Amino acid sequence: MSAQQHFDVLIIGTGSAGLMCALQLSDDLSVALVAKDKLLEGSSYYAQGGISAVLDSADNFESHIFDTLLTGNNLGDEKTIRFMVESAPNAIASLEKTGVLFTQESGQYHLTTEGGHSNRRVAHVADKTGESIQTNLLNSIKTRKNITLFENFIAIDLLIKNEQCYGAYILNKSNNEVESFVAHRTVVATGGASKAYLYTSNPDTSTGDGIAMTYRAHCNIVNMEFTQFHPTCLYHPHAKSFLISETLRGEGARLILPNGEKFMHKYDKRAELATRDVVARAIDSEIKANGFDCVYLDISFKDKDWIQCHFPSIYKKCASFGINIAKQAIPVVPAAHYTCGGVQTNLNAQTNVGNLYAIGEVAHTGVHGANRMASNSLLECIVFAKSCACHINQQVFKQNHPKFNNWDASGVSPSKEKAMISYLWDEVRRIMWNFVGIVRSNKRLHAAQMRLTQIQNEVDEYYHLYLISSDLIELRNLIITAQITVKSAISRTESRGLHYNEDYSNTSDTIKNTLVKL
Ligand code: FAD
Ligand code: SIN
Repeated sequence: MSAQQHFDVLIIGTGSAGLMCALQLSDDLSVALVAKDKLLEGSSYYAQGGISAVLDSADNFESHIFDTLLTGNNLGDEKTIRFMVESAPNAIASLEKTGVLFTQESGQYHLTTEGGHSNRRVAHVADKTGESIQTNLLNSIKTRKNITLFENFIAIDLLIKNEQCYGAYILNKSNNEVESFVAHRTVVATGGASKAYLYTSNPDTSTGDGIAMTYRAHCNIVNMEFTQFHPTCLYHPHAKSFLISETLRGEGARLILPNGEKFMHKYDKRAELATRDVVARAIDSEIKANGFDCVYLDISFKDKDWIQCHFPSIYKKCASFGINIAKQAIPVVPAAHYTCGGVQTNLNAQTNVGNLYAIGEVAHTGVHGANRMASNSLLECIVFAKSCACHINQQVFKQNHPKFNNWDASGVSPSKEKAMISYLWDEVRRIMWNFVGIVRSNKRLHAAQMRLTQIQNEVDEYYHLYLISSDLIELRNLIITAQITVKSAISRTESRGLHYNEDYSNTSDTIKNTLVKL
């Protein structure tokens, strides 16, 4: 017998977006906060570099806005960018209120920099910014009696009636029962979709669940072709997905070939501090042209104590693989890192479906355009989580929740083909890496589309025959997200920012946002 639970607000996802939103909701609202894995697991926890904000008297909002627009290849929405940039100092203050202690030097913030920023404006907690934000937000949440935490509960689909959203069907992974979480307002904060690629900096949670769920609920999904590849992930057979922060380059680290030669100056006059799309493509080109396994990032000219103080986690992690970064260059390769597209939202984080909000990486607010500037993601999470909560706090809800049928599992049987799920999962990720990667072509995109359509049919059949499981839910979402990405990439008949198609050498003046809708 499936259970039904009733709340004022359901938040799906406990990354920095979901946690900050819950914390900002009035304490007279009952809130369910749901995570499909451990509460702290998600990209937010692993964020290294920091969060951007104008905090230095030599910096100004216009410069942050200009850099964000330029990095996004002038596809970002200026009004939304302005809103985010001007809210940034406040976002930092909200984090500090929960206990986050940003690194200071001589009584001032130690601000670092990354590609695209023309001023030092990245506040950070050494190289563990995400860990600090997440643990402090979660500790604050735990003091709030109106918020109930659900760990290892995976949302399957949104509850929709008359084009309004009233919660979600959610699988309790500990007993495999599907429960209906009925709520007046639902906030999707499920993170990105980089697990759709074979190589990624992201944890296992980034399977595009929120994008697929909102797509099935008839939301507008925008600009999904813009997958950001981070230029520098650790290249080592046992390092599953460890990032080497861009802030190393911000502090002077150089990219070199195996023979020690620098190469970035050949691609962009900003060299190592060119924007991520440019640096990732340059590395990809050197690796492919020369048949290298990787390139190297060298910070060994800095003093060992300085390195250990600014990059303690990176120093330690590399040391665990036998790489002493104070003496040796670090082997690095690009990997899928961030989903710039997503569910279209406005300044209040509302989607086009009633009562339904989206925040964080799953959302397309319009700030990133064709390429996200480093450290603008945590900022977007915090700013829009706050505006979402503020909008919900101003509303009066109907007293009764609408009625929904319980999840019906009567027609399905236990799965006999679990191996097929892992096989198809792997195939989707290989197709995306090989055909929808850093450099694309029309031929490769169409080949990807053809095979992904076949896989989608196989997965749909499987979904309707067998008992639901976490892996099956994720595979179903991964394949939909992959399909949307390819469809968007095919419809962008230009090369711009992160979407580089060798069949189109130019940027078009007429193509704006791509839209995919059920
Ligand atoms: P996440 O933090 O990914 O959280 C997603 C949540 O949703 C998780 O709790 C997950 O369990 C839950 N979830 C997902 N699907 C379901 C489902 N079906 N049911 C229930 N729950 C679900 N950005 C910066 O600005 N600065 C940085 O320094 C930085 N460094 C980064 C370093 C790494 C290694 C990575 C991977 C990313 C980094 N980014 C950085 C990007 C940034 O961290 C993310 O974009 C941001 O944290 C996303 O936050 P989020 O709350 O949207 O999602
Ligand atoms: C990094 O530290 O390089 C990641 C920063 C980001 O993704 O914004």
